[in-house]
Amino acid sequence: MSVRSLAVVVLLPLLLTACAEESTGELSAEALQLLQQRSQAFQGRAAAGLLQNDSARALAGELYAAHCAACHGNTGAESERGVPQLENAMFHHGESEAAIRTTIREGRHSVMPSFGGEMSEVELGAVVAYVRSFSSGEALANYAETAEEQYGKYCVQCHGAEGLGNVETGIPNLADDYWLHGESMMNVRLTITGGVDVQCPPQAGLLADSEIELLTAHVLGTRSSSVP
Ligand code: HEC
Ligand code: HEC
Repeated sequence: MSVRSLAVVVLLPLLLTACAEESTGELSAEALQLLQQRSQAFQGRAAAGLLQNDSARALAGELYAAHCAACHGNTGAESERGVPQLENAMFHHGESEAAIRTTIREGRHSVMPSFGGEMSEVELGAVVAYVRSFSSGEALANYAETAEEQYGKYCVQCHGAEGLGNVETGIPNLADDYWLHGESMMNVRLTITGGVDVQCPPQAGLLADSEIELLTAHVLGTRSSSVP
């Protein structure tokens, strides 16, 4: 056996196991199947109704831990920059039952190009201050003109003149106090220079309809009431 085929035989299964563990929150295939079977008891029931049912909510929590928590974090935990912590997030893809169901079923993929090479340091600094002024309301003394010019050139077509965002196109609101990618000057700068490419994986075809419905209920039910 060549070194190469030996590597494939030995390393590939290890790698696949590692990936499987990561994506399933470390539950075995049997355990996941059992969750799916238990979900069938709620077949045909919509999320809003499931929310009223204690055993449905408990099962939904288990499904969340198995399929979502690896990225979104468990209750109260911090999630990675760019991954919304669902209880406290402002949903920029929509927060209605239907929008959440679509997010889980079809996934979401958001891309913002990087503008690192497009602007001078001064222009970049001005745009960072400008973006932050949407929520702080602070006036930009001497950089206002440069900032408006750059924002109009590179940003306005997606983010709009007032940065208010758009649920239809998945553009976040820059004028609120919620920052998915961080609100510090450094983080805003990093978002602009590095761009964004984030994805919530689609579950249609992987999870049963009843599981997707239970997860929709879970997301609706655990959202903090302080989220407007
Ligand atoms: C591989 C990591 C990953 C997994 C697994 C994952 N998500 Fe996501 N999810 C993300 C990322 C990243 C985003 C942000 C996508 C964006 O901004 O467009 C996101 C966005 C979302 C949103 C939309 C928030 C908004 O702003 O509108 C919801 C709801 C959501 N996920 C629910 C879930 C549920 C429920 C599961 C489990 C079935 C899940 N996600 C599994 C990474 C993940
Ligand atoms: C092609 C459309 C597009 C353009 C052009 C664009 N953005 Fe974005 N921007 C996005 C999307 C989509 C997101 C959200 C990514 C996500 O879901 O995480 C985003 C996110 C952001 C965020 C992070 C918001 C948060 O909650 O943390 C900032 C800041 C931002 N953009 C600033 C800018 C600036 C400044 C420009 C111009 C230099 C710009 N964007 C140009 C699409 C765009």
